[in-house]
Amino acid sequence: MNIILLGPPGAGKGTQAQRLVDLHHLRQLSTGDMLRAAVKAGTPVGIEAKAVMDRGELVSDAIVSALIGEELDATPETGAIFDGYPRTAAQAASLDDILTQRGRKLDHVIELEVDEDALVERITGRYTCASCGKGYHDRFEQPREPGVCDRCGSTEFKRRPDDNEETVRTRMAEYRAKTAPVLPIYEARGIVSRVDGMAEMDVVTASIEAILGQ
Ligand code: AP5
Repeated sequence: MNIILLGPPGAGKGTQAQRLVDLHHLRQLSTGDMLRAAVKAGTPVGIEAKAVMDRGELVSDAIVSALIGEELDATPETGAIFDGYPRTAAQAASLDDILTQRGRKLDHVIELEVDEDALVERITGRYTCASCGKGYHDRFEQPREPGVCDRCGSTEFKRRPDDNEETVRTRMAEYRAKTAPVLPIYEARGIVSRVDGMAEMDVVTASIEAILGQ
């Protein structure tokens, strides 16, 4: 199974992708996570991407499509959840080529529909465990024991440098201008389903599960 999760920044793509990994043994392919790893490692890709990401703009299509191809080849037998990719029509065309070359196809494109006004609060309240990467939120998803990660017990947490209001507004504008036009490409193929991303996280997961079970 190969699935795309589409939606603006903060829609819940990463949250739901992590849950689908656990439920279906799929692999989460997040171009945002790949780029942040490249920035942290100081690779040439990371050096080029850092300033672009800090501004909230999109990294070049060639860079992200190359990352996706490499990651798919690392685990060729495992189904994929594409989280944050494709983000432009050119990336959608590249993904078609990448999948065709590997004898794979897209099964579902799931759009998380959200109210943009709520997204700034979601994103600016978000943080992750510095050790295992589990996601939390100041208001919506706190650790059971304050200051201790539920999953690994670490007491170190971190926030993303692009999770400030100004950058979030640029990321939303990029989504509207460049990523929203990707949806009609998949609508024409009849593989798009929509989910209310404003519902409780468990309800969103149940809605996605219902789509995948069809
Ligand atoms: P990326 O890392 O992909 O960021 P994004 O798309 O802006 O998405 P987010 O990770 O911010 O949001 P999300 O939808 O995953 O939400 P989450 O589940 O965390 O990209 C970062 C940057 O990298 C880009 O700006 C760009 O520069 C570059 N980049 C990446 N991919 C690229 C590409 N393909 N091409 C070019 N450039 C690329 O949820 C957010 C918060 O809300 C969490 O705290 C969560 O707990 C909470 N939450 C989630 N669901 C709910 C719910 N239902 N109710 C209440 N709270 C909820």
